[in-house]
Amino acid sequence: MQNIQSYIKEHKNRFINELIELLKIPSISADSAYISDVLKTAESIKISLEKAGCETVEICETNGFPIVFGEKTINKNLPTILVYGHYDVQPADPIELWTSPPFEPVIKKTDSHPEGAIFARGACDDKGQMYMHVKALEFMTSTNQLPCNVKFMIEGEEEVGSKNLNEFVKNNRKKLKNDVILISDTGMIANDIPSITTGLRGLSYVEVEITGPNRDLHSGLYGGAVANPINILTKMIASLHDENNHITIPGFYDAVEELSKTERSEMAKAPFSLENYQKALNIDSVYGEKGYTTNERNSIRPTLDVNGIWGGYTGEGAKTVIASKAYAKISMRLVPHQDWEEITQLFKNHFESIAPKSVKVKVTPHHGGQGYVTPIDSTGYQAASKAYQKTFEKTPIPQRSGGSIPIVALFEKELNSKTILMGFGLDSDAIHSPNEHFGIFNYLKGIETIPYFYKYFTELSK
Ligand code: BES
Ligand code: MN
Ligand code: MN
Repeated sequence: MQNIQSYIKEHKNRFINELIELLKIPSISADSAYISDVLKTAESIKISLEKAGCETVEICETNGFPIVFGEKTINKNLPTILVYGHYDVQPADPIELWTSPPFEPVIKKTDSHPEGAIFARGACDDKGQMYMHVKALEFMTSTNQLPCNVKFMIEGEEEVGSKNLNEFVKNNRKKLKNDVILISDTGMIANDIPSITTGLRGLSYVEVEITGPNRDLHSGLYGGAVANPINILTKMIASLHDENNHITIPGFYDAVEELSKTERSEMAKAPFSLENYQKALNIDSVYGEKGYTTNERNSIRPTLDVNGIWGGYTGEGAKTVIASKAYAKISMRLVPHQDWEEITQLFKNHFESIAPKSVKVKVTPHHGGQGYVTPIDSTGYQAASKAYQKTFEKTPIPQRSGGSIPIVALFEKELNSKTILMGFGLDSDAIHSPNEHFGIFNYLKGIETIPYFYKYFTELSK
């Protein structure tokens, strides 16, 4: 690839400033107060794609936020790469824990990023990583080195479940036709230990509501004589794990694939320091399912976690009350072969069955999606591996991630193509947390590596 490094050097400041401008728009898809900002972000992506060399860019309306679709065809006989990313971001709260405002990006140094990182909501997830692809395209078109056809599909509802993208994909199979899908929305092990994500977990997200008496009661007059929904809810939740931290829902593990000894020892070769892991989180010990290592627990094993729980009096001081209702939001991370709709049903049946007669239970499914694993002998993986070897001078390690991008399994089903997950974020980049950031090194390294993927994918496809 002719002069990618010098191109980056020459345009580095502009690349950073353009990303900073994009990060200033608070495109929070979950919060209706930001609708116009989300729409403005889609417009801004459209303009960036046009400037980067797409021939046509459309804003495709959906029942929710639009999908930005761009394309450049150079020769119908050459392969087509479909780039997917998302322009929406998570809410910024708790806002008081940010050291600088979430939508006023600043560059600061960190232990993992001695060259500096851009701090802003969406810096890593996914505006920064998505924008690397726009800048890589700019390089390839402006230096006449685009080796194949390219399509971009950038959505605005990933953080809220990609409901409308599901429809869009099913209705636009021909438009989206491709030879490989390329996504940067995951992470890698460390800046000097490149890795490629070969698996994602599935997800089932539910909300539960426990109703006791028909009104809040005086906890002295009624306490001890009627069921307290909060006491009941916490007891029910506690029973969902046994003493070995196995999940107790009948049938939950039926479809879970046990990895062979060889696969597990392959996995264990990835560099990992338990001591540093604990130190970074300020915990004295890790916690999880018996019989599995930390890296196994957060990738190849399914989990169940309460994401939020509320009810009763939480204001200042004390109020003696037995609340009428208690609530919780619960997510289950699933592994390939577990069907998220089936698991949601198993959860519902079990949760309803363990409630005492004294309360009523309501389980409402939110959203979900299937997990994904991809082999490392595919053309796409091989091309990605070569690209990292070129720019990092190291062979990347294949690694399954614990996170979820539910649309990836749908891509395989509906479009029949493999997805390559070239993520450049670090676990310490605090995605979804206060002080999210993305390393300048990572941003520029991504821009440098992506054109090699195009080159090698085109060559290996011949
Ligand atoms: N980019 C993340 C997923 C991710 C991050 C995967 C790091 C692997 C490594 C994505 O934006 C995300 O947050 N997904 C959600 C699921 C979605 C349905 C809300 C998640 O994993 O919680
Ligand atoms: Mn993301
Ligand atoms: Mn996310």
